[in-house]
Amino acid sequence: MSLKELKSFEKLQKHFEKMSSLHMKELFLKDKLRYKKYFLSLGGLRLDYSKNRINDDTLNLLFELAKELKLKEKIKAMFQGEKINTTENRAALHTALRNDKKNPIYVDGKDIMKNVSEVLSRMQDFSDRLRLGQWLGYTHQPITDIVNIGIGGSDLGALMVCKALKNYGHPRLNMYFVSNVDGVQLQGVLKNIHPQTTLFIVASKTFATQETLTNALTARKWFLDYALDESFIAKHFVAVSTNTQAAKNFGIAAENIFEFWNWVGGRYSLWCAVGLAIMIYLGKENFKLLLEGAHLMDEHFAGAKFEENMPVILALLGVWYINFFDAGSHLIIPYDQHLRYFPKFIQQLDMESNGKQVSKSGQRLDYDTSPIIWGDMGINSQHAFFQLLHQGTHLSPMDLIVSLSKKGNLPGHHEILISNVFAQAEALMMGKDFKQAYEENLAKGMNEEEAKKLAPHRVFSGNRPSNILLIDEINPKNIGSLIALYEHKIFVQGVIWDINSFDQWGVELGKELAKDILAKLYNEKALKEHDSSTNHLIEIYKEFNSKF
Ligand code: F6P
Repeated sequence: MSLKELKSFEKLQKHFEKMSSLHMKELFLKDKLRYKKYFLSLGGLRLDYSKNRINDDTLNLLFELAKELKLKEKIKAMFQGEKINTTENRAALHTALRNDKKNPIYVDGKDIMKNVSEVLSRMQDFSDRLRLGQWLGYTHQPITDIVNIGIGGSDLGALMVCKALKNYGHPRLNMYFVSNVDGVQLQGVLKNIHPQTTLFIVASKTFATQETLTNALTARKWFLDYALDESFIAKHFVAVSTNTQAAKNFGIAAENIFEFWNWVGGRYSLWCAVGLAIMIYLGKENFKLLLEGAHLMDEHFAGAKFEENMPVILALLGVWYINFFDAGSHLIIPYDQHLRYFPKFIQQLDMESNGKQVSKSGQRLDYDTSPIIWGDMGINSQHAFFQLLHQGTHLSPMDLIVSLSKKGNLPGHHEILISNVFAQAEALMMGKDFKQAYEENLAKGMNEEEAKKLAPHRVFSGNRPSNILLIDEINPKNIGSLIALYEHKIFVQGVIWDINSFDQWGVELGKELAKDILAKLYNEKALKEHDSSTNHLIEIYKEFNSKF
């Protein structure tokens, strides 16, 4: 049965017809307790979702939808390790990686918690030695520079967390992240580091990703050109992978390989060995707090009733806008400089998980799924694309994220930051009507004709939804909770849309074609026929570079 045929969905459709013409201003006027009613907190996170185009009926119907789709049972199935990633026949057990009670969780009849603990303690041992200056390079010098080579899920999570928690980073360590196969990125990093004092982490779930292996091979050559002896590689290269054999074949010593498992999705993997860069930089205690924060969100998600469940509410609000208001995008707008990589991270997490066009059973869907996730730093965006958000023709719901704590900020800066967050949400919601704009123009000294002419350009329709997420302070525990909040929000939406949020077949076709085109660029045997435009572009490239 399609989502659209469900009873609760049909009820929501009818309800939408009423709600779509209502202005949030009126909802606030009608319900004085709205600010309090649509507010939740958990640990160091507080969510104000009152500035949404909803009332109690909307929420109740959305909860009914979730119940009709057996959300509770599906959450349980994920936590218990059922193979919910049906197209790859795998569990999706990132929650097990932060299962601090270490209660047994079974995959194929085997308790996976033993392996999780073992790898975690190897990571702890390694990062302790490195941080204390006991893990030495081949010339007996402590490591000062860490280069994480990986892409997508093997890059973005570690990069985002290291940047977010820079204040907790080890002062001796410089962290670099190389993902792009455009050599400019790696060259830029190599200029700043020295082979004697650098550790490369080659992070790849499959250990078959062309960009990562190319960058890793170039880094290896750069190292050997200086160090001259292959046995020194063991002091300067470690790998993180589910494919330990491929990592060994690459030349990484078995004791330098940190394993993880196919039941951890790449974009959900920062909690295990893919987070090695995080643990080295922040230390094992802070890594533990990161896990604890995520675990807190896990317990809340699995245990709280829908009415009080942060990920469930965020997810259902998203469904409301995507499937009823036809909102095609969702914005992630952090205001704290530390969170500047958060939108990018959520882009992969959400769009690679829920950017799907068929149901779990392979039926073509007749409704929209993942929105286009976009966003950037709030203040900068206000001076760039916020014009469209206030006066453009698209409805783009958003999450505005900011920390409450001004600790460590420059005097007077944090107040300006906060005032802008609150002001944007208010402006988006309240807007400014023609009468207000006209009267303001008159008050500015314009004559009636001028005031009338300019007024439409100064009208803000308002009624544009936003969530405000306040983080008490940017610390490891709260960042853990924040990431898990979005992981679970995305899971809930996948359940509503009946899609597999844990595969990513959509990235395959481009990879296959690129391999074939690469062979053509080198005049090697290629197997595929390409369209005339692609052939033309290949010829242009070859001809252009034949001169060099
Ligand atoms: O191409 C997409 C993707 O497979 C992502 O899902 C993954 O996070 C990334 O590439 C990196 O893959 P790997 O960790 O196997 O190198």
